[in-house]
Amino acid sequence: MYLLKENISLKAYNTFGIDVKARFFAEIFNEEDLRELSLLPVFKESRLLVLGGGSNMLFTKDFGGLVLKVSIPGITAARSPENEDQVLVTAGAGIVWNDLVNYCVEQDFAGMENLSLIPGTVGASPIQNIGAYGVELKDVFHSCTAFEIASGKLKSFDFAECHFAYRDSIFKNELKGQYVITGVTFRLNTQARINSQYGAIQAVLADRGIRRPTIADISKIVAEIRVSKLPDPSTIGNAGSFFKNPIVEKAEFEQIIKTFPDLISYPAGKTKVKLAAGWLIESCGFKGIVEGNTGTWKNQALVLVNHGQATGAEVYSFSEKIIDTVAAKFGVKLEREVNIL
Ligand code: FAD
Ligand code: EPU
Repeated sequence: MYLLKENISLKAYNTFGIDVKARFFAEIFNEEDLRELSLLPVFKESRLLVLGGGSNMLFTKDFGGLVLKVSIPGITAARSPENEDQVLVTAGAGIVWNDLVNYCVEQDFAGMENLSLIPGTVGASPIQNIGAYGVELKDVFHSCTAFEIASGKLKSFDFAECHFAYRDSIFKNELKGQYVITGVTFRLNTQARINSQYGAIQAVLADRGIRRPTIADISKIVAEIRVSKLPDPSTIGNAGSFFKNPIVEKAEFEQIIKTFPDLISYPAGKTKVKLAAGWLIESCGFKGIVEGNTGTWKNQALVLVNHGQATGAEVYSFSEKIIDTVAAKFGVKLEREVNIL
C-alpha cells in the first residue's frame, strides 16, 4: 500500500542534505501502488518528481508538486536462455544500487563490480547510464520495465531503445519525465572478465601483488579508491561529480593543450577528446575551497559540497561561478551532471 504525505521536508531524501519542502510526497512499494496512485486527482493534477535515493539532485526551491519515492524491492536471478554462461538478474527499482552489486559479487555474477559503492537506486541507474572505473551501466544492461505516466501502461525498454551514451539516455532527453522505471534486468557473466584497465585499480593491484584478481578483489579495491576520493554523503552533503567531463573536438583540444600541456584528457571516439573537468576546475584554483556554506571537495574539485547549512540556490550560484571561470580560462563550457530542481 502506498504512503501519501503532505508538506514534508526533503532534507532526508537528498544526499546534498538541502532542506526544501514538497507539497505532496508518496512512497510506492510495487507497480500496483503506482497504478492506484495514478488514479487519484493529486497524481493527475500535480507536477511529478520521481525520486530514488536523491543522490543526483540539487533542490534550489520548494517543490509544489508530488514527489514519488520509488521503493520497489526484490532481486531475482535466472540463467540466460540465450547463453549458458550468462545470468539475467532482475531488481526492483527501489533496491539500493550497491546492495545489488554486493549480491552479484557474492553470487559470483560478474560485470558490476567496477560500479561498486555508487550511491542511489537501481531505478535511477539507466537514467544517466551510471559509470565508474571503466564500466558503464550499458555494459550490463539487458532491459527495464517502466510505467508510462500519461497512459498508466507498463512498457519494456531494451538496450537499443535506451540510447545510452556518456551520462545520458533517452530518459534524460525525448522521454524525460514520462516514465517511472519500476525494475531493471541485467545481463551478467558466470565466467568473470575482469576489467582492471583504470589506472587507479592497476596501481593498487600492483602494490598488493595481486596478479589474478577476482571480482570480489575489484569490488573491494574500487570501494577503497572511492572512499579515499569522494566525500561520504552521510557526513558531508554532496551529489558526486557536479559536472560532466566535457567532450570537445580534437582541433579544440589541440588548441587548449598548446597553452596547458598538463591538461588531463582521454580519447572519446575517433574525432573527440574527453577532458578531466576536475583538472580544469582545480587549475582555476577551486580545489578544496570553502565559499560560504558550500565549496569543492579537498580531494576532488569536481564534487561540490554542503558544509552544513547551504541552500540549493547557494550551491547553484557557486556552480555558475565555476562554469564562468573555467569558460574564461579554457574556452570550455562545463555542463552540470546533477539534476537541478
Ligand atoms: P535520484 O537522485 O533520486 O534521481 C536522479 C534522476 O533520476 C532524477 O531525474 C530522477 O527523477 C530520476 N529517477 C530516479 N529514479 C527513477 C525511476 N525509478 N524512474 C524514473 N526516473 C527516476 N554517478 C555515476 O554515474 N558514477 C559515479 O561514480 C557516481 N558517484 C557518486 C558518488 C557520490 C558520493 C554521490 C553522492 C553520487 C554519485 N553519483 C555517481 C551520482 C548518483 O549516484 C547516480 O546518478 C545515481 O544513479 C542516482 O540514483 P538515485 O536513486 O539517488 O537517483
Ligand atoms: N583530477 C584533478 N583534480 C581534481 C580531480 C581530478 O586533476 O580535483 C584528475 C585526476 O587526477 C585524474 C582525472 O582528473 O587524472 C580523473 O579523475 P577521477 O579518476 O577522479 O575521475 P573523474 O573523471 O573526475 C569520473 C566520474 C565519476 C567516477 C570516476 C571514476 C564523471 C563526471 N565523473 O570522475 O563519477 O566515479 O570518473 O570512474 O564522469 C559521478 O558521476 O558522480 C561520479 C563520481
